[in-house]
Formats: sequence, C-alpha cells, structure tokens
Amino acid sequence: MTATAQAAPAVPETPDDVLIARSITKQFGGLVALRNIEFVIPRRAIVSLIGPNGAGKTTFFNVIAGLIPPTSGSIELSGMRLIAPARRAWLEPLLWFAPPLLVLLIGILVSGGNIQLVALWGLLALLLATLILPTAMARPAWYESFIRRLGIFRSARPNDIVRSGVGRTFQNIRLFHNMTALENVLVGMHLKLRSTPVDAVLSTPRHRAEEEEARVRAARYLELAGLRGRDDELARNLPYGDQRRLEIARALACEPVLLLLDEPTAGMNPRETGEITALIGRLRTELGLTVLLIEHDMRVVMGISDRITVLDQGERIAEGTPEEIRRNPRVIEAYLGKPPS
Ligand SMILES: Nc1ncnc2c1ncn2[C@@H]1O[C@H](COP(=O)(O)OP(=O)(O)OP(=O)(O)O)[C@@H](O)[C@H]1O
Ligand SMILES: [Mg+2]
Repeated sequence: MTATAQAAPAVPETPDDVLIARSITKQFGGLVALRNIEFVIPRRAIVSLIGPNGAGKTTFFNVIAGLIPPTSGSIELSGMRLIAPARRAWLEPLLWFAPPLLVLLIGILVSGGNIQLVALWGLLALLLATLILPTAMARPAWYESFIRRLGIFRSARPNDIVRSGVGRTFQNIRLFHNMTALENVLVGMHLKLRSTPVDAVLSTPRHRAEEEEARVRAARYLELAGLRGRDDELARNLPYGDQRRLEIARALACEPVLLLLDEPTAGMNPRETGEITALIGRLRTELGLTVLLIEHDMRVVMGISDRITVLDQGERIAEGTPEEIRRNPRVIEAYLGKPPS
C-alpha cells in the first residue's frame, strides 16, 4: 500500500489499464482541490474513491469527464492521451485559414486583373472555408488524429470523452425531468446513433430501423438497472431511488468502457443500497465494465471494491485493497479524527 508517496503510481501500470491519471493537480484560485494525483484503473476492476467531504473526489471525476481542465497533469484512456496541457494550439487556426487564403492568393495571381475571375476564386476560397470551419468545430476523429500528427494537442471535450468510452452519473441527480425514463436513456444513446438529421427529417428506413433498435436496447438497460415496466413514467414522477437507477441506465446507453458513479447509493435505504451494490457487480460480470465509484457507505465500498484510493484535502493519502485501507492509520485519522494524545 502507498500511504504517503504522492508521486508513486497507484498500482503498477499495465498495457491493459483503462485509465491512467498522471500527476493531476486542480486549483480553484488559491484552493488546491487535487494535488499531484496518480491513479490507475485496471480493465474490469471496480475501484473506489473515498474521502471526507471536500476531499476532491467529484473534482477528480469532473477532470476525467473533461468538464473541468486540470491545472496540470494528464489522463490517458485505453492508451490514448485525452487530457493534457495544450501543445502548439496556436497552429490550429493557421490550418483553418491558410488553405482558403492560399486559394484566394493563387486566384489573384492567375486572374491577371480580371475582376470576375478573382471573384470566382474568392467564391472558391469561401466554399473551402465553409467546409473547414464546421469540421474544425465538430472535430471528428480523423481531424483529431490529423492535427495530432502535426504535433498539435488539445484536450478532448466532454462529448469526445463520452464517445471514447466514459459514462458517468452525477452526485446530484441530473435527469431530463419532463421526459420519460425510456426517453432519458435514448438521449444517452444519441452519440452512438449513425443516422443523420436528414434521415430523421425524412424518416428514412435506416432511421426507423435504428430508432427501433435503440428503443429495444434502452428498454434492456432500464431492465438491467431494475426499472422494468417504468419505461413510460416521467423521470420527475419516479421515486428517488429509481431516479438514481435511471441515471445509471442512461450512462450505460453510451456503451461505456469505464463507468464513473458519484455516490450512487446516496440517500437510499439499506435494501436499495444492497440492490445497487449488486447491480454494480453485474455491470462488471454481465457487461464487462470497469467501474470507478465514489461512495461514502463503507459497507458498499469494502464489499465491492478491488482497490480503494483515499483522498483528503486534495491529496492521495492511501491506496490499497479494502483490507489494507481498513487498517490504515491515516485513513482512520482522516475519517474519525485524530485520537487525543
Ligand atoms: N467549481 C469550483 N470552484 C471553486 N471551488 C470548487 C469548485 N468545485 C469544487 N470546489 C472545491 O474543491 C474542493 C473539493 O470539492 P469536491 O466537490 O471535489 O469534493 P468531494 O470530495 O466530492 O466532496 P463531497 O464528499 O462533499 O461530495 C472543495 O473545497 C470545493 O469547495
Ligand atoms: Mg462530491
């Protein structure tokens, strides 16, 4: 177990690690919410992040999910560096504007003063710009790998991170309250659908088939999360525990490799807590998922985790198996307070 050494990796890295966080620091003004956090999540592991209130757990989730940029450090997902300080980002706008400007310049040079020809070349340059700029905004995978080959790096955006296989739930439930349970899950599938807006407007056979298949899959996720028969209930009418299950079902809809669960049993009674714990176990056995769990309920954490990392005031104070964590004096001190000497 690593009790004090912040710089040491959480567990030795292997090529099969789903996530590797290297030296993540996050400062909010003068407050250091995370300090040099090293973190490794092996494939198909259930890893828990625990610590007192304000320790930095949710901040760490938000960094992984691309919602807040770290002050320093990097995150790799399945061997792909997704979050890190920007490199040569200033070069990117040159890539957008150089081709149309070049076309315009060539136009001016070859037109020999013919204003109509220049206008035609200008139109061509404009057309090129209208192709390049939306592509740069959408940042499809081929564009991303193209700019990386040029040595340009910008961290992935939250939607790119979801596409790369990270699903999450929120500490404070965030559902689409006026949509049904099924519709909430369908929203989670949005990124994986292949049919285009044109397909949707024209209601093409491809769109209808995909929509039907998505509904079947969404119903399956609801059933897996324990919401069978609740498909048509408005999210806001579901009991609290079911809303938490619905968040999990929606996170599953984006077919994640890594699922981040932020206090999934908060506010639940012991029976519901037991059911969610069993569900998390099934997510690994039935869907092959890797899970990173933030949880305050120590029975859940100790019962289900392969490894546990403990944060306190932004620092990793311990890392190890549940048994090692249970006996760690720094963990006991952080949770229970130092006994009077
Ligand atoms: N957007 C923000 N701006 C400023 N400070 C923030 C922000 N987000 C979090 N913090 C601060 O960072 C620290 C860590 O917060 P965080 O929410 O990560 O804690 P946590 O471990 O999830 O706590 P809890 O168990 O209460 O959910 C806290 O001091 C918090 O006030
Ligand atoms: Mg939190």
